Amino acid sequence: MLKIGALQLRNWLVLAPMSGRTNLPFRLIAKEMGAGLVSTEMISAMGLSRGQAKTYTYLATNPDERPVAAQLFGSDADAMATSARIAADMGIDAIDINMGCPAKKVVKTGSGAALMRDAQKAARIIYAMRRCSPVPLTVKIRAGWSPREANAIEIARVIEDNGADGICVHPRFASQGFSGTADWTLIGRIKEEVNIPVIGNGDVSTPSLALRMRSETNCDGVMIGRAALSNPWIFQQTLEMEQRGSFATPGLDERHRLIRKHYELLIGYLGETRATHLIRGLLLLYTKGLPGRGFLRGLLSEIDGRERLLATLHAYFGSIQEEGVS
Ligand SMILES: Cc1cc2nc3c(=O)[nH]c(=O)nc-3n(C[C@H](O)[C@H](O)[C@H](O)COP(=O)(O)O)c2cc1C
Repeated sequence: MLKIGALQLRNWLVLAPMSGRTNLPFRLIAKEMGAGLVSTEMISAMGLSRGQAKTYTYLATNPDERPVAAQLFGSDADAMATSARIAADMGIDAIDINMGCPAKKVVKTGSGAALMRDAQKAARIIYAMRRCSPVPLTVKIRAGWSPREANAIEIARVIEDNGADGICVHPRFASQGFSGTADWTLIGRIKEEVNIPVIGNGDVSTPSLALRMRSETNCDGVMIGRAALSNPWIFQQTLEMEQRGSFATPGLDERHRLIRKHYELLIGYLGETRATHLIRGLLLLYTKGLPGRGFLRGLLSEIDGRERLLATLHAYFGSIQEEGVS
């Protein structure tokens, strides 16, 4: 069981923060599917500390998803510390600092992965946030800025020395983006280096890989990102695999149910028009590997609202069921 500071989680699996993806509806789905901790997408500390209404909406939470972590990005220690307090006051259970995002618009402000190039500033931010945050604090890092600046181990020590309660490691360099493969050996080396929990992340696309990352690196938790987008069942599948050595894949009825549920949650969160726009993309993710996706893709542009979406789903799942797919 993973414990971060005083926060005891029900298991060792964590949903990765993903901007544009890990909104409240998807976090509720991941939680239902067994994730022990879910995370918001990255939220601007500057926006929160300046009281920007839109930024606050990213902190909207719901008792059913808890415990939930909010990921904050920024480069100003005061704004980061104030935001940690704001998030905790709004019911967030843990704060994560983004020190891994390589996106230009983030690093050019000195935030995200740029902080890995400035250990002193990183230390000031962690220290200030630790003093202000009444909830556990973690930091999500990469392997370093580039192979020439491979300083994850040094930063891991800074993170621990300044009072953080855990480290999430996505062992690719910022310069790599998502290319190449995640170097899991670095997760193991950081685990040997620090005494706070280490959550490994990167390229876990199946339940077996989640178990393998844990056994190969001795990490305390495993964070799953992209794989959960098309297979949110991966959390419960991993727990089943751990307990029984095998896992069940979702049948058609379950996939149909989950898409409908996700859509209804999106409507409640964003309204019908935006929810319909979003679910059209999600439909193709959730039906990965099923027959008739070309047919479904063809119908997507005609889906203009709830009624049409539900009818299309009904027709699609009905037709493949008749073909004998289960
Ligand atoms: C669409 C998308 C958005 C992401 N947004 C964030 C983010 O807001 N904060 C963050 O720390 N990482 C972000 N990431 C990186 C993931 O949290 C994770 O580290 C990365 O995807 C590797 O894990 P995976 O192989 O399980 O996907 C994002 C990744 C994706 C694919």
